[in-house]
Amino acid sequence: MDATTVTVTGAAGQIGYALLFRIAAGEMLGPDRPIRLRLLEIPAGVRAAEGTALELQDGAFPLLRSVDVTDDARTGFAGAEIAMLVGARPRTAGMERGDLLAANAGIFGPQGAAIAAAAASDVRVLVVGNPANTNALIAASAAEGVPADRFSAMTRLDHERAVAQLAARLEVPVTDIEGVVIWGNHSATQFPDVASATVGGRPAFEVLAERLGGTDAAQRWLDDEFVPRVAKRGAEIIAVRGASSAASAANAALRHVRDEVLGTGGRRTSAAVVSRGEYGVPAGLVCSFPVTSDGSGYRVVPGLDLDDRGRSRLDASVAELVDEREAVQALGIL
Ligand code: NAD
Ligand code: LMR
Repeated sequence: MDATTVTVTGAAGQIGYALLFRIAAGEMLGPDRPIRLRLLEIPAGVRAAEGTALELQDGAFPLLRSVDVTDDARTGFAGAEIAMLVGARPRTAGMERGDLLAANAGIFGPQGAAIAAAAASDVRVLVVGNPANTNALIAASAAEGVPADRFSAMTRLDHERAVAQLAARLEVPVTDIEGVVIWGNHSATQFPDVASATVGGRPAFEVLAERLGGTDAAQRWLDDEFVPRVAKRGAEIIAVRGASSAASAANAALRHVRDEVLGTGGRRTSAAVVSRGEYGVPAGLVCSFPVTSDGSGYRVVPGLDLDDRGRSRLDASVAELVDEREAVQALGIL
């Protein structure tokens, strides 16, 4: 089998370090697919990325054909079939949201253009760096000639968090849980939704009501504990760990790409993809939806019920995405 070229940006960062060795071990693309890694960093990160490249060599991974480190975007994305955009400008003290969006537009715009210029014609791009949804929108807009549906942003970590919280509350294995959905933005406005989820094949809400002593108690747990816990889990990790999630984010990024490229086998997951107006979400926004993939890319699962509560939560998160898009447009970027 030909080697697949995978480009990872921010390769010297925390997520990069947790991700690269698993990609090299074949956990993302399977045990038969050789891999060429390209690590893209800013100049200040190149030396550390080179150190990671030395360690990758020392892993003697049978599937790993080569590792190249660069700070030039066109070189970094040359021939990329999979691009994982992890590197981003973090928010620092005194930075307003507009400053953060502008700083990241200055990264994701040029990277989108470099992908269009240099990547493989079938490239697939996952944006992890925050604000992930809007960074993906910027990259997709700048990647002239690359279909927008090749771009997605990561809400898979939120999805796994939701699965894990539900499983923990019900004291069941995570493998019993199916059909959880993350709607909206990868931010505290997201809506983790169990309305169409199942636990051991039974409706999740029914199982929750049985376990928690009625439908009111189940709804209270969802509104007061589950939704805020999942939506604010990123902040909880930062508060407890002293740094943003890294290994769990790398795990989610790996699963996102694996499922997109190898297929979900009919199972639903969550990913932020470019809206075509599904579920009333304005076309063009990068919004998290229930998705499946047959290996040719994520497609939004149609026809799920959203009750009034769910609808207003999705609307609130979409309003935030619209605000982010308008803020970027006001900077003359889109
Ligand atoms: P980190 O600070 O440890 O590493 C970021 C790396 O990116 C650094 O090495 C930096 O030099 C590099 N970088 C910055 N600008 C770059 C550019 N233009 N090109 C290439 N590399 C560049 O951060 P981290 O913990 O690895 O997190 C990376 C990003 O992922 C952050 O934006 C974080 O908020 C985000 N994140 C997203 C999710 C999600 O669920 N979507 C989850 C966790 C973290
Ligand atoms: C997460 O969800 O863990 C991260 O997006 C948090 C962050 O701000 O980096």
